[in-house]
Formats: sequence, C-alpha cells, structure tokens
Amino acid sequence: MTEAPKSKHIVWHHGAITKEIREERNGHKGFTLWFTGLSGSGKSTLSHAVQQKLFDQGLQTYVLDGDNVRHGLNSNLGFSPEDRTENIRRAGEVAKLFNDAGVIVLTAFISPYQEDRDRVRNIMDPGEFIEIFLDTPLEVCEDRDPKGLYKKARAGVIPEFTGISAPYEAPASAEIRLNTGDLSQDECVQAIVDYLKEGQYIQR
Ligand code: ADX
Repeated sequence: MTEAPKSKHIVWHHGAITKEIREERNGHKGFTLWFTGLSGSGKSTLSHAVQQKLFDQGLQTYVLDGDNVRHGLNSNLGFSPEDRTENIRRAGEVAKLFNDAGVIVLTAFISPYQEDRDRVRNIMDPGEFIEIFLDTPLEVCEDRDPKGLYKKARAGVIPEFTGISAPYEAPASAEIRLNTGDLSQDECVQAIVDYLKEGQYIQR
C-alpha cells in the first residue's frame, strides 16, 4: 500500500477499466524492471537496450531515467538523503501508475538506499517489482566516467556524490545481479530477457 494521504477527506475512485482489462488488451502484464547501481554502471544504457528488445516485440514499454525525471517532475530535488528518498518515492509511484496502465516500466535511478527501494517494492503488486542490481565495481564506473562527474566529485566540485562521498547500499536480494564490467551489453540484455521469459512475464 501507498502511504496514507495527508488529508483524510479523499476517497479512492475505482474506474471500470481495470489493470487486468488493459493487460488483456496489451497481451502482457504491466510490471517494473528497477535498475539500481552506481552512476556509470550502465542503468540507462541497459534499460534502453532492454526496452528496445521488448518494444520490437510489440510490447508497451517506458523508461523512467533519473537524469531525465530530475529535469521535470523532480526538478526541485537535489542529492541529500532526504531528496533522494523523495526522488525514489515519486519515481516508484509513477512506475506504479504506468504499470496500472498496463505498461512495462524500466527505471534507471541510482536509488542508493535499501529502504527506499523496499518501499517501492512494497507498493507494487507481488512479483511486479524486479530489482536489477548492476554490481559494477566503482573503479570501472569511475574509469568510464561518461559525464565527467567522478572527476568533479574527486575534485570536491560535486558534494555527496554516490560512491565517493555518499553511500550506496547494495541490494540484499535483487532478482537479477549483473556486473557490466565483466559482461557484454548483449549478455546483460539476454540475461534479463531470459529471466522475463522464465517467469512468464513475456512470451517465449
Ligand atoms: S538518486 O540517488 O536519487 O537515485 P538519480 O538516479 O536520480 O539519483 O540521479 C543520478 C544522476 O544524477 C547521476 O547519473 C549523475 O548523472 C547525476 N548526479 C549529479 N549529482 C550527483 C550526486 N551527488 N550523486 C550521484 N549522482 C549525481
């Protein structure tokens, strides 16, 4: 369940078109692939690569990317622990709405705190939150440094940078764990697609 609303005077309205009816029309379930890992671990790249594969099969998909969502919905949030928690809370609620609309969501947020990720897991229907831990060593991410942010973090220009001056709590029991330093992009995509087929989230 989502947290109780601030006001007591709001009532849930049930529409006639349910999640199940939307899923039946789409021919697949709505669920969330939640990528988590350090900056540069490959969350955005992999989520888009998996999305492409699913989209090409005619499935309804959408990527929610931390950097993008922080330009709009979450533009008022920074990188303090409290702001990251709120960032993930909102991202989780949006993912849930998309799932309710029958869409497969792929998220790419560092989401460094176990408690925040668990909160999202708990608002989703059972089995519909698939946590994908990109367990790529900091050295590899820092070496890639696609946006030059690690360099700035080391120089003290960016405070509270995950992995350098802010924590990353590795998932205790992610459904999928991949080290993108060891595996190719194709191997990672295949591992995720295989998981979805085996779990009958998508057809073989
Ligand atoms: S989260 O921690 O709240 O989940 P989110 O995924 O939305 O983070 O945003 C992370 C992205 O913001 C990184 O990929 C990076 O490009 C950028 N960024 C800017 N400042 C920071 C910071 N202090 N720590 C981590 N990432 C940062």
